[in-house]
Amino acid sequence: MKIIGTGSAHPKCAVSNEMLEKFLETTDEWITERTGIKERCVISSEKLEDLATDAANKALEDAGLTAADIDFIICSNVVNEFVTPALSCIIQGKLGAKCPTVDINAACAGFIYAMDMAEDKLRCKKAKNILIVCAEEPSRMVSWQNRSTCVLFGDGAGAAVVTEGDELKAIRLTTESMTNVLYYQRKLEPTPYIDKDENFEPLVMRGREVFKHAVSNSNKDIKTLLEETGLKTDDIKYYVLHQANRRIIDAIRNFLGVDEERVPHNVERYGNISSAALPALLDELNRGGKLQKGDKLVFSAFGAGFTTGACVIEWAK
Ligand code: UT7
Repeated sequence: MKIIGTGSAHPKCAVSNEMLEKFLETTDEWITERTGIKERCVISSEKLEDLATDAANKALEDAGLTAADIDFIICSNVVNEFVTPALSCIIQGKLGAKCPTVDINAACAGFIYAMDMAEDKLRCKKAKNILIVCAEEPSRMVSWQNRSTCVLFGDGAGAAVVTEGDELKAIRLTTESMTNVLYYQRKLEPTPYIDKDENFEPLVMRGREVFKHAVSNSNKDIKTLLEETGLKTDDIKYYVLHQANRRIIDAIRNFLGVDEERVPHNVERYGNISSAALPALLDELNRGGKLQKGDKLVFSAFGAGFTTGACVIEWAK
């Protein structure tokens, strides 16, 4: 597999820490110090499927392809307005593509899970060009009265077009059922027969536990992949890490012992946009002219589940 195009799209409403100070018992200082986040883009009048389609169209254009060239669409999404149909079906229609599609939910690690699925399809020759779209609106899962969670997230979409190639050097996925540290239970329709207790509440997160798991699991994933590929930390041009929190990014960077330039970040501008974070940051690097053919990149992400995903990939464009 190789990546031949990237795209991203963010909502227009940029919510600064100062704007949050107006209705939450919080400060810019607290948020900046604990998370590195200065602002996040939050959906207002936009629809998530339109942001996703925008990101996908940009990735197609970057790849020099059209929707007709795509054989399969994988959409990574945790929540959106529709339970059914899948978001990927809506995006397919908006793009004017005709191929089969599927949605996956591996939380913030979704981009790596989608890459793994894409690699399998390409290897089996079931597809030639695959579109991965990660589209997320975590702002709709949190309570905006809860300062512990709502300040952390933003909405957005990131996309990548992948095709046959040998550039994916190694990939690793893990899932550990730890359902009580990060969850959101959606309210379903009542029925005349329900007689069990159901507990619906906005996103619950035990921040410190998530923090520890995130750092130790990402470190382990990256170390394992470097060993597997025989690469040294300095052979990697960029470590493209999940953008959840600047302190987590710095903790992983310290573990790796690499310079700041090798660990790009945009969490200060977008907050945590779940699985869209990785492809959106990759798109920034790509469009900013930061990537050269042959550069080796590490991607690493973690999310609710607990899921993790990481890979080593060579830049092909
Ligand atoms: O993809 C999912 C990823 N999730 C994450 O990456 C989150 C990982 N966890 C974290 O990043 C950190 O745990 C947080 C940033 C969420 C919290 O930082 P912390 O250093 O672990 O703080 P804490 O939760 O232990 O809270 C410390 C204090 C508490 O007050 P008390 O009980 O000590 O009086 C909180 O109520 O900070 C308070 N607090 C706030 N204060 C001002 C929590 N949120 C805020 C806030 N503003 N926004």
